[in-house]
Amino acid sequence: MSVRFAAIGALLMTLSPTIHAAVPSGDAHSFANTREFRATHLSLDLQADFARKRLRGHADLTLQRLDPQSRRIVLDTRGLTVSKVELLQPQPVALKFTLGEAQPMLGAPLSIELPASAQGKDVLVRIHYETSPQASGLQWLEPSQTAGKKHPYLYSQSQAIHARSWIPLQDTPQVRLTYDAHIRTPPELLAVMSAENDPDAQRDGDYRFRMPQAIPSYLIALGVGDLVFRPIGKQTGVYAEPAVVEAAAAEFADVQSMLEACEKLFGPYRWGRYDLLILPPSFMWGGMENPRLTFLTPTVIAGDRSLVSLIAHELAHSWSGNLVTNADWDSVWLNEGFTTYLERRIIEALYGRERHEMEDTLGLQSLQRDIADLTEQGDAALTKLDMDLKGRDPDDAFSDVPYEKGRLFLGFLESRLGRAELDRFLRGYFDHFAFQSISAGTFVDYLTKHELDRADARITRAELQVWLDEPGIPALAVLPHSDAFKRIDAQRDAWLKGATPAKSLDTSKWTTHEWLHFLDNMPADLSSARMAELDEAFHLTTSTNAMIAHSWLLDAIRAGYTPAWPRLENYLTTIGRRKLVKDLYEELLKTTDGKQMAQRIYARARPLYQVPLAAQLDELVGKP
Ligand code: BES
Ligand code: ZN
Repeated sequence: MSVRFAAIGALLMTLSPTIHAAVPSGDAHSFANTREFRATHLSLDLQADFARKRLRGHADLTLQRLDPQSRRIVLDTRGLTVSKVELLQPQPVALKFTLGEAQPMLGAPLSIELPASAQGKDVLVRIHYETSPQASGLQWLEPSQTAGKKHPYLYSQSQAIHARSWIPLQDTPQVRLTYDAHIRTPPELLAVMSAENDPDAQRDGDYRFRMPQAIPSYLIALGVGDLVFRPIGKQTGVYAEPAVVEAAAAEFADVQSMLEACEKLFGPYRWGRYDLLILPPSFMWGGMENPRLTFLTPTVIAGDRSLVSLIAHELAHSWSGNLVTNADWDSVWLNEGFTTYLERRIIEALYGRERHEMEDTLGLQSLQRDIADLTEQGDAALTKLDMDLKGRDPDDAFSDVPYEKGRLFLGFLESRLGRAELDRFLRGYFDHFAFQSISAGTFVDYLTKHELDRADARITRAELQVWLDEPGIPALAVLPHSDAFKRIDAQRDAWLKGATPAKSLDTSKWTTHEWLHFLDNMPADLSSARMAELDEAFHLTTSTNAMIAHSWLLDAIRAGYTPAWPRLENYLTTIGRRKLVKDLYEELLKTTDGKQMAQRIYARARPLYQVPLAAQLDELVGKP
């Protein structure tokens, strides 16, 4: 994952010192005055206008008054045009409002003045607004950018701080709210949300949703397109365009078993249905754990179920993240580290120990690369579990650290407590903090009470401190190893030494994991001729597995293997998943010719990419 842009956020912060002033919530990424008013329910009424690429309508917010003196509500917005604000309860009256100056990363605070007569515990305000066509949390796709090529597509991505670009609200994970929504679309399209979806909903352009469980704003999500539904298991299914739905249902056939495996380990699934929404390839993430409806890149449809750990990951967030939520983005490892650990346990339950070891090992390699990059860039502080993201865009500061270092921390707990005790502890933790947002400190207190303070404690406070506060991978970590990968290393070595020609390598039983390990650990100075030998034997340039193609194309750029160039261009102009495209650009930029190629391709590809990815690549490659 990428970290290079972390510094830019910091630079912007020094240029706009006013940002520091506005953190009344204690969350450095929100303007909301959550200590005075706290939202409890949101009611949306929006029309999706595809011609103008705007959502238009109103948002009703029920807010609980925590400070009886307070007459002002401050909400987060970004790029919204607000036309009117009304008080609906306790009595209907028009309200004065001001939209503050927009900050590059945080957007603009919306301050709403309440009249002195608006007494009482709850207030209900209605905000009439419309979104911008460049809303950072929405992507409006032309028919040509979809699988079916006939209908447009719209999807949202609210994490980390993009909900404010399509809904005015308190955009901090500290606040949890229920919601309902009335969404109008062109009649031939279907809308789905991170809420109760009716698989039998009539397609008429008028849809209603209800999310009865309180969730943080970053989990509010909407998708609109030419979608159809296929059931998978008794509470699971997939929404996708007709052209991909069969392949998706086959690829993700194990999702019901995954859900049941996770329930057995960590307690009941509390959200009713668990469906998947397959997005177009422009989606910049692999997956997003929107409750009841995970959003997913189509690049995991490999044909052999080899990339389904991504589903296990998003599903696991139904416990770690959606049920027990990080209260701010500094503690994101509470979401992602726990989830990565749960993900691997699901994989082991379904596919066995060897696959678990391979995925842990690939994760460790990726973590080591990120730690080296961050350290080299002078950002070693971002290699701590507890980060300080004040002044940084949480999107950009994300690396493998919260994921894989967090996973290593849980692996360490497992090694000391034993699996049975860790499972018991985690189950209790999910029950205890269900539907709450907590800081890392709250977790540490809970761990201390239940494990460290025991007479027979197996972990010391000093050890815990090392995990939380020290950069890099602690010496305490129990590092994964994979015997399967040792065999791959031996084969790679034999080929590199010239002892075994590519054609004679025994790859017949390799899965995606073995191929990734084989390709990701090639020497940097591999020649173009040797790449040609591999390509002739294994047809890697034409691989339809997006992950294998990604590793191969990285090697191809390093080796200057020109026969792969048309594939590289095709790849970069059809896939917008950040993890797959960004490092290809970075690798290209290392040479003068490569830079020219990167700029030429980027100019063609940019309209496909999501707003936050395009912003990052503008910095990296140059705005076309
Ligand atoms: N919640 C994340 C995606 C995310 C993180 C969105 C930060 C916005 C900001 C999701 O659960 C995730 O981690 N996705 C990963 C896949 C996973 C298997 C590592 C991804 O998209 O790469
Ligand atoms: Zn995640």
